[in-house]
Amino acid sequence: MKRTKIADILQHSKVNENILVMGWVRTKRISKNVCFITLNDGSCMANLQIVIDITPEIDELLSHVHSGAALKIFGVTVESLGQGQAVELQAKEITLLGEANPEEYPLQPKKHSLEFLREIAHLRFRTNTFGAIFRIRHTMTYAIHKFFNDKGFYNIHTPIITASDCEGAGEMFRVTTLDLYNLPKTEDGKIDFTQDFFGRETNLTVSGQLEAELAALALSQVYTFGPTFRAENSNTARHLAEFWMIEPEMAFYDINDDMDLAEEMLKYLVKYALDNCREDLEFLHKRREEEQKQKPQNERDEMGLIPRLEFVLYNNFERITYTQAIEILMNSKPNKNKQFVYPVDKWGTDLQSEHERYLVEKHFKKPVIITDYPKEIKAFYMKLNDDGKTVRAMDVLFPQIGEIIGGSQREENYDKLIGRMKEVGIHQKDMWWYLETRKFGSVPHSGFGLGFERLMLFITGMSNIRDVIPFPRTPKNAEF
Ligand code: 4AD
Ligand code: MG
Repeated sequence: MKRTKIADILQHSKVNENILVMGWVRTKRISKNVCFITLNDGSCMANLQIVIDITPEIDELLSHVHSGAALKIFGVTVESLGQGQAVELQAKEITLLGEANPEEYPLQPKKHSLEFLREIAHLRFRTNTFGAIFRIRHTMTYAIHKFFNDKGFYNIHTPIITASDCEGAGEMFRVTTLDLYNLPKTEDGKIDFTQDFFGRETNLTVSGQLEAELAALALSQVYTFGPTFRAENSNTARHLAEFWMIEPEMAFYDINDDMDLAEEMLKYLVKYALDNCREDLEFLHKRREEEQKQKPQNERDEMGLIPRLEFVLYNNFERITYTQAIEILMNSKPNKNKQFVYPVDKWGTDLQSEHERYLVEKHFKKPVIITDYPKEIKAFYMKLNDDGKTVRAMDVLFPQIGEIIGGSQREENYDKLIGRMKEVGIHQKDMWWYLETRKFGSVPHSGFGLGFERLMLFITGMSNIRDVIPFPRTPKNAEF
């Protein structure tokens, strides 16, 4: 007999069906001659209630069954008396697939802190919270591919090992097979990378954009969805050393088309979650409500998780330039009262997340897209505006998160691109292949990068990015 998933049983089963289930015990309770077990198999948030009439031999077996144990149960569905569920399972045959010693099993049927659960990330999938998060993460992955596929975009797999630094920030993890204890040297005493595996210096990619651009200049509309690595030493609740990024790249798009696509995509994904992850979102909504109650009044967010998702869906994003943003920030109360850690005192300063969150949460009270940043604080590939000072960048800022998307129209002019590369010190000879696309059939094009875990933070209402990726990689942390 084939196993039926609990989600299917709870949705479709009628009484009097013979069914085989397998899953993990959440709770066990004995009342007189009956044992009640709640079983979860990850297919949905809800547990299936198992009812077992206790006989002497079953009693022996049940003495080995505790929270966390794995069971295989054959039984018949009966009408459920409690809990608002249609059916429960009257057990006829029980097999103990795997024991979980209660003296050692760290998950108990009570609330554990997220910090503690991070230390047992191998088991945290078995909690309601992380079950919900990772089911949603899957659904969002699917929705992203569906969004682009329905629009005729092609998914491009860009390399994970590269020799270029797309963002130019130098925050890269080196990839090498050289013997670190015995490095080959050149005559002038430097490391001889010609002897390395690829015959040159290589690193893990910080972005698939440059390669996606090459593909877009032939296939018109493409996107990448892959792992991305940044060796920045930021121990914040919004940074990972290994994260997943979605990078669409479109030929014939200017920055306005780019912003329209970003806004459409974010709204599509929010709606997809609301339509397809209701049970899990409702659980996380309640969870966040409880969490907010523990905070002092002035630190609580005014909106609950589901209203916030709906709010983003039904409101247009505010679009302003960097210059306007700086004016608002310079004249803002927290700036005048010296409440920002980084005061805003002149045009040209980079925006910190405290500034981004002020604009979104306090000033506009909705998502904001900032465009036309000073060229000095943005990457070399962004299209220079006619003022010669700003570039056609666009950052999408979200409540609670700050920057969720970074993108731009790209510099398609060969000479201007070379000019920017010289200014920031990128060698032309290393980027010959990128430059050639500006020599042969160059066209206006644009793209952006959505941080998948930042999206997940927003959708789930979790506050730490370490809790929306199964096994977070952060400074000094690569366990599991
Ligand atoms: O703004 P970023 O650095 O832009 C790029 O990498 C461009 N090449 C994208 C493009 O135009 N194709 O990164 C894009 C997004 C950010 O807005 C943020 O959401 C996320 O990636 N991100 C991170 N997420 C988690 N941890 C980190 N360390 C992140 N760094 C960036
Ligand atoms: Mg950025």
